[in-house]
Amino acid sequence: MQRQGDSRGSRVNERKLLHEQTLGMSRKTSLLACGLISADITFRVGEMPRRAEKYRADDVRFSLGGGGAIAAVAMQRLGAEVQLAGRLGDDLFGDLLRTEIDRRSLGYGLLSCIPNGKSPISSVFVDDSGERQIVNYRQPDTVLPPKSATDTDTEPRESIETTAFDATRLQSIDTPDAVLVDTRWEAAAIQVLAFARQAGIPGVIDGEAPVSHTAMALASHIAFSRQGLRNYAGVDEVEAGLRQAQTEFACWVAVTDGEQGVYWLEGHGAESRLAHMPAFAITSVDTLGAGDVWHAAFTLQLARGACEEVAIRFANAAAALKCQSNDGLDGIPSTEQVMRFLQADDEVQRVSH
Ligand SMILES: Nc1ncnc2c1ncn2[C@@H]1O[C@H](COP(=O)(O)OP(=O)(O)OP(=O)(O)O)[C@@H](O)[C@H]1O
Ligand SMILES: [Mg+2]
Repeated sequence: MQRQGDSRGSRVNERKLLHEQTLGMSRKTSLLACGLISADITFRVGEMPRRAEKYRADDVRFSLGGGGAIAAVAMQRLGAEVQLAGRLGDDLFGDLLRTEIDRRSLGYGLLSCIPNGKSPISSVFVDDSGERQIVNYRQPDTVLPPKSATDTDTEPRESIETTAFDATRLQSIDTPDAVLVDTRWEAAAIQVLAFARQAGIPGVIDGEAPVSHTAMALASHIAFSRQGLRNYAGVDEVEAGLRQAQTEFACWVAVTDGEQGVYWLEGHGAESRLAHMPAFAITSVDTLGAGDVWHAAFTLQLARGACEEVAIRFANAAAALKCQSNDGLDGIPSTEQVMRFLQADDEVQRVSH
C-alpha cells in the first residue's frame, strides 16, 4: 500500500510506541469521549421497506450507537479506560442504554438524564445488498418537565433546557490523557475542550456537520469528515478548506475521506503542505461508525504520545479492521490486532521494495 507523508523520524516513533505497547509497558491510557449516545435498532431485511405495509425482519440487533458512544467503546476495546459524557432521556431506551453502558464498564459519571426527555434512537434497516436506511430521532433543545399530580392541563409548564452541561462535574473525574468530542452536544463539547486546554492535554474534535466554531476554536486537533469540512468551508476543495480552518483556529487540521484515506496540513501558514495517507485496501462489509472508530484510535495514540502521522496510520488500520467485520461494535479491534495488521503491512512493504 502506498503511503505519502512518511518520514524516518515518525517511523522510528511508531516502532518505539508499538514496541512499548506490545510489551504492555505503557500504563492504561485514560480518555474522555463526549457526544451523541443513541439506541440503535438494526433490522436485517431482504427488501428495503418502501411501502406502508408490514415487513418481517430476518434478524435484529439492539446496540449502543451514536458517535460519542461508538468512540467510547472503540477506545475501550483499544485498551483505554473511558469516561463517556452524553445525554439520555428518562425513558425505556434510556434504561436500556444505561444497562448497556454499565455492562461495558464505561465510566458514566458524566452522563446526564433529561427529566421527561426522550433518548436518541436510530431505526436502521440493512438489506441483502448491504444498503442502509436510517431514521434518527434526537431530542429537541427543550422539553416539558414531568407532570406532577397537581398539574392541570390549563397551567403552562415551563420547559427544561436539554442542552446545558454542568462543567463542574469535570472537576470530579481524574484528568484524562486526552479528550474527543463530537458536535452533537455543543455546550458539553465546548466545556470539555476548554477543560482539555486548561489541563494541557490533546483535545480532538470530530468535525461533522453542523460544525461548531466556538468548539473548534478550543480544540488542539480538528479532524473533519468530508461532509463536515464542506459544511465548514463552503467549498469542496480539501486543501482550501483545511487552510481556511488552520488560519481561523490555529490548530492541527485534517479530513477523513472514507476509502480515500486522510488529508492533513503539515506545518503552518505559508510553510505548510498538504499531506495524504491512503486508507488500507480492504474488502469492506460495514462502514457504519468507521469515522468514530478512526477518531477514537487517533485520540488514543495522541494520548500515548504518538505524533499525528503515526496516529493517523494507527487510526486508518483500526477503522479498516472495523469495516472488514460484520460484528458491529464487537468487530472493533484491540490495539494488539491493529499492531499485527500494521506489522503485516510493514512486511508487505519491505518485501515489495
Ligand atoms: N471502505 C473503506 N476502506 C478502508 N478504510 C476505510 C473505508 N471507509 C472508511 N475507512 C477508514 O475510516 C476513516 C474514516 O472514514 P470516513 O471518512 O468515511 O468517516 P465519516 O465520514 O466520519 O463517516 P462515519 O462517521 O459515518 O463513520 C477513513 O479515513 C479510512 O481510514
Ligand atoms: Mg464521522
